[in-house]
Order: sequence, then C-alpha cells, then structure tokens
Amino acid sequence: MAVTYDDVLSGVRSAIERAPSYPEAMLEAVNVLKDQMPDYAWVGIYVLDGQELVLGPYRGKPSPHTRIPLNQGICGAAASSKETIIVDDVDADPRYLACSLETRSEIVVPILRGADVLGEIDIDSDKKAAFGPADRELLEAVAALLARKSVQS
Ligand code: SME
Repeated sequence: MAVTYDDVLSGVRSAIERAPSYPEAMLEAVNVLKDQMPDYAWVGIYVLDGQELVLGPYRGKPSPHTRIPLNQGICGAAASSKETIIVDDVDADPRYLACSLETRSEIVVPILRGADVLGEIDIDSDKKAAFGPADRELLEAVAALLARKSVQS
C-alpha cells in the first residue's frame, strides 16, 4: 500500500521525538521527508541568522544559495511574511532564486515559535504544481513539531 501523508507525518514525528537535539531533529525531518515523498526532489531547512537565512541540513543537489537575505527569493518572502508560499511554476515567479535547472515548483514553510521565525522548510519538485493542500498541511505540522522541539533542546 502506498505511504499516506498521515504515515509520513507519523514517521517525522517519531524521528523528531527520538532526536537528541533540535539540530538533529531538523536533519531527521529532512531525511524522512526526502526518503518518503517521491516528488520532493530537494528538501532542506534554512535557519534564520539575523537578517539572513542560512542553509542547514538538506538532501538533493548542492544549492548555490547557502545564505539568503530576507528580502530575496521565495525563501526570503516566506520568512518575511511568516506564511507558507507555494509556487506552482517557478519560471513564472520573478522572486525565484534557481537552485537546480530541473526545478519546476516549490513550497516554503516558515518554522515559527510564537511570532519569531526560527527558519523554514524549503522543498523543490521537478514537477509543475507538485504541492497541494495536503503537502501544506503535512509541512506546517512538521514545522510546528520542530518549533516545539527547539524549546526542549
Ligand atoms: N528557490 C529558493 C532558493 C533556495 S533553493 O531552491 C535551494 C528561493 O527562491 O528562495
């Protein structure tokens, strides 16, 4: 049977709970999402450092964007607005900073602790419009689990 979104969330939740620290929880979350979601070609977490997003754990091709100012890219826009951004066609979005030529769509989900942005989950797909409401729900739940973990460790 195919893996469901609920299965994936359960897997991420267990991995985050088992992780001994917040940095390791971020790494584990990236690994579970990359391993279980076939359309997630690039999965990474950026961590906010002052006015810049710094690339933390990721799976996929190395990105040239290891530091992104808050006023740049879809990543910067999501952190600034503190809201999830889904881009169905990255070529049609002037904010887009290219990571890989194959990328067609992207979702960026802020990790929020209260009103503070800790970072964000960034996922690219090689398919157009790969991210829908179920992806948003899954990834916002993962972001909330990570935010909770950051308080504990
Ligand atoms: N596409 C992002 C940059 C990060 S790479 O995709 C890994 C953006 O537009 O902010």
